Amino acid sequence: MDYDVIVIGGGPGGYVAAIKASKMGKRTCIIEENAFGGACLNVGCIPTKALLKSVEVMNTIREASAYGVANIGGQDIFLDLNAVQKRKNTIVKQLVSGVGGLLRKNKVDVVKGHGSFLDKNTLEVGDRKITGENIIIASGSSSKSLPVEIDPEMPVYTSTEVLDLTSLPDKIAIIGGGVIGVELAYYLSAIGVKVTIIEFLERILPMVDREITEMVRRQFSDMGMEIHTGSKVTRVEKDKIIFEKDGNLFEVPCDAVLMAVGRKPNIEGLNLEAAGVRVERGAIASDVHLTTNVKGIYAVGDVNGRSMLAHTASSEAIVAVENICGLTGKMEYDKIPSAIYIQPEIASIGLTEEQAREKYGDVKVGRFPLMASGKAKVEGEDRGIIKIISELRYGEIVGAHLFCAHATEMIAELSVSMSLECTAEELAKAVHPHPTVSESILEACHAVTGKAIHS
Ligand code: FAD
Ligand code: NAI
Repeated sequence: MDYDVIVIGGGPGGYVAAIKASKMGKRTCIIEENAFGGACLNVGCIPTKALLKSVEVMNTIREASAYGVANIGGQDIFLDLNAVQKRKNTIVKQLVSGVGGLLRKNKVDVVKGHGSFLDKNTLEVGDRKITGENIIIASGSSSKSLPVEIDPEMPVYTSTEVLDLTSLPDKIAIIGGGVIGVELAYYLSAIGVKVTIIEFLERILPMVDREITEMVRRQFSDMGMEIHTGSKVTRVEKDKIIFEKDGNLFEVPCDAVLMAVGRKPNIEGLNLEAAGVRVERGAIASDVHLTTNVKGIYAVGDVNGRSMLAHTASSEAIVAVENICGLTGKMEYDKIPSAIYIQPEIASIGLTEEQAREKYGDVKVGRFPLMASGKAKVEGEDRGIIKIISELRYGEIVGAHLFCAHATEMIAELSVSMSLECTAEELAKAVHPHPTVSESILEACHAVTGKAIHS
């Protein structure tokens, strides 16, 4: 065999797998047909957050006079999209080149091109054949689209194109109110686009705790967005979108459409049949050890369709390599945090209140409204809520939902707590600094046992 480990794909699943494998002493090669960093660095996590940061800065400056900042040069502050793009592209470029550097430094052989299986140990890249003892598939995912009739005159974007826009449509219809739909709706609305979200299910962000979804819906309506839930798009015409709700047809005029109805694993072109790798519901079937049905072949990241998040991909990559090296790594999929970068931010881990009640019957829920937090008021962002959910038998925390300033940073504390099977009472005893927004987590934990001090 040419290598101990061959990795297909250089996103947060693939490049982490390759570096880890090399660090564990394995002769490693990575095959990438595009830029290192995958969707996350190039068209996903990083560019979206760069754009959203620009909005945050703009909003802070718009509100600066409320903090006593004077003479900031007029009220008509707006984003120069060319400059916003330049900043975003610089960040992406630096990070992508950083990944290339890390791979080189860790002595991972890089093969540029499209990899596809010839058999379970052999990959073809162009006219080259490469053999490996173990193969980690980390080929990621791509945007899905709807099988509806679309007039070719209507510009239909995926998130990838929206991230690069320097001139904006006046009105955009976003199909899908999931994570991409909501983050980009927030961005576009904040910079002046009239946004309409059309969501198939009965609420936007169906994966988020219902109470928080409702707050987000109200906030988005206040921003001027139109939201249609329980609605099925039937046709896109050159200047409008048509959808069906409760048996009636409605239309919304728009100049562009964003398709944000989920992502599908990249399995086409891998020639998985040659290796005998099993596919289930469009994704490569893998277990908690990331093994597939074929010995020596692993599937990590979006391609296994389990949890399409960058940090899941990277954790899975490490687990897969540990297993290749004879260790017994295992994923705990019920303890993966997720984060949504609107303002205030949303971050969750574990079960929603509904899911917890379904699983455990009765549960305890502690809530803390941020308007009772001193630091939230100082920060000028006292919207939102923190919810901690624990089961009754041991008092273990089974879910945490944060909708507040710094939520995406603070959720890591709940990750640690939940991985240590902490109870709300135990977490409440861990002294937190004052004044911080993180103190509110303790208050919500106190509230779980009915002992809240400040609310
Ligand atoms: P990818 O990052 O998709 O990488 C796969 C790589 O494999 C690609 O570089 C591709 O070119 C390469 N490849 C595919 N097939 C082959 C082949 N046959 N041969 C050679 N190379 C191949 N996640 C978060 O956790 N936080 C976020 O804030 C976040 N924001 C997002 C925003 C957007 C708009 C999008 C689209 C996604 C976002 N995600 C976010 C999801 C995140 O980007 C993915 O979960 C993550 O990139 C998955 O990593 P991966 O390594 O599995 O796949
Ligand atoms: P998603 O699965 O989050 O949301 C898709 C939404 O589209 C769902 O609400 C679904 O009900 C809706 N939908 C499906 N078919 C529809 C139809 N025919 N009409 C109307 N609505 C329809 O997928 P999304 O937003 O495309 O994101 C893809 C992946 O990228 C997600 O799995 C997410 O985890 C990841 N991502 C993560 C981010 C983060 O962590 N901050 C940011 C952006 C994406």
